[in-house]
Formats: sequence, C-alpha cells, structure tokens
Amino acid sequence: MTVTNTQSGTNVHEIADGIFRINTPVVLPGDAGGFSFNQYLIVDDEPLLFHTGLRHLFPLVREAMAHVMPVERLRHVAFSHVEADECGALNEWLTAAPQAAPLCGTVAAIVSIGDLADRPPRALADGEVVSLGRHRVQWLDAPHLPHAWECGFLVEQATGTLLCGDLFTQPGAGSPAVTEGDILGPSEAFRHAMDYFSYTRHADALLEKLANTRPTTLACMHGSAWRGDGAALLRALAAELAA
Ligand SMILES: [Fe+2]
Ligand SMILES: [Fe+2]
Repeated sequence: MTVTNTQSGTNVHEIADGIFRINTPVVLPGDAGGFSFNQYLIVDDEPLLFHTGLRHLFPLVREAMAHVMPVERLRHVAFSHVEADECGALNEWLTAAPQAAPLCGTVAAIVSIGDLADRPPRALADGEVVSLGRHRVQWLDAPHLPHAWECGFLVEQATGTLLCGDLFTQPGAGSPAVTEGDILGPSEAFRHAMDYFSYTRHADALLEKLANTRPTTLACMHGSAWRGDGAALLRALAAELAA
C-alpha cells in the first residue's frame, strides 16, 4: 500500500491484477468510527476509473492516480449511479483527461449524465461488454439495488472483479485494502443503522444475476475490498434482505 497524501491518509493498493483501489478515510459529523470513499482504477490500454469520488476530494484522488499512471491517459469515467461520491467529480476528470468520456448505464445517460456532463456519455445496455485491452468490463443493470433507478455495476471479467459500488458498505477507514474476513456482518449493521437500501422486490433476482458472474473479488466503494466466493456472499446478502 502506498500513502499518496500524508495529511488525508489517501492511499493506493493493487487489489487485483491491474486494478487499484484509491482509498480516502474521512470523519463524518457525529461519527467517531469514521468512513471511507474508494475509487477503482483499471490500468490498461484504455484506463477506466470506477467512481469519480466527491468533487471536493478530486485533488486527492487525482494525486493518487498520478502515482499509478499519468492522469491524462484516463479514457473511461464510470460509476454505478448518480450521487456525489459516484460521479460528483465527473467534469473535473473530463477536464483533466481530454480523451476521457463518461461510461454509464442507459438510464443514467438519458436521465442525468447527458445533461450533467461536459461531454456526452457512452451509454451501455444491460450485459454490454467494453474491452479496455487485457481487461474487459461488462455492465449489469441493477435498478434500485441498493438504490437509484439508474443503478448498475461493472464486472471485470479477466480478474473476476465485481465493482459493487454501495453493496457491502462498511463503516471505518477501509483498512485493510483487501480482506478475506467477514464484510457482510459490518455492512448489514450499517444498512440497519442507515437504511439506504430501496427495498426493491427484484433484489433477489438482481443479486442472483450478479452471483452468476462468479466474482472472486468484490470492489466495495466504502470499506475494504473482499476476496473469496463472491457468488456465495451475494446470495448471503439476498437471504439477509429477504429476512
Ligand atoms: Fe449510493
Ligand atoms: Fe457510495
């Protein structure tokens, strides 16, 4: 792990072959335990960033990316749904990387990003695959799971990494970068406390769709990334949601 900013504690760690987690621990008002925001950078012929980070964190995330590759090489700025931590710094990235374009689901493109972004997005259909070089990402629509109509996820097929956004959100600073320990317990405790899931009746089918990609790494936006039998963990989450 490389700390790229000693003041904020922002750090970079390669969690799978060519996939780097950029992690910034934060302190939220009234929250002694802390929280964290992660972005994931896939380094390839066409580098992809999943989650832009909050707009006010952009200088820290840009500084961290520069430790891995030149920022202007970035080609795809992707995210799960429209929220500040997912895409708040989208236009800052488009300015920093002149060849980059937003990459998102069709609903996000039509409803929000076609208007919010300074350059037009590339809109992906459910199941569509984009080759980055030796990595390939597949977009999977997941409306309202855990929240937002436009929600979806990317699966990186070469490494078996599910970029799972707000699924398995854990409190704390996000250390270690990757764990094989329990993340369902902490994320379920957080879900019960914060109530950020939509209660869509399609959650079970959507989680089964994600499980069928058989991921071995789950790249969480908040907390540690996780390594193990991703299908089993996604089905365990489905069981918790149905309980
Ligand atoms: Fe979210
Ligand atoms: Fe989030």
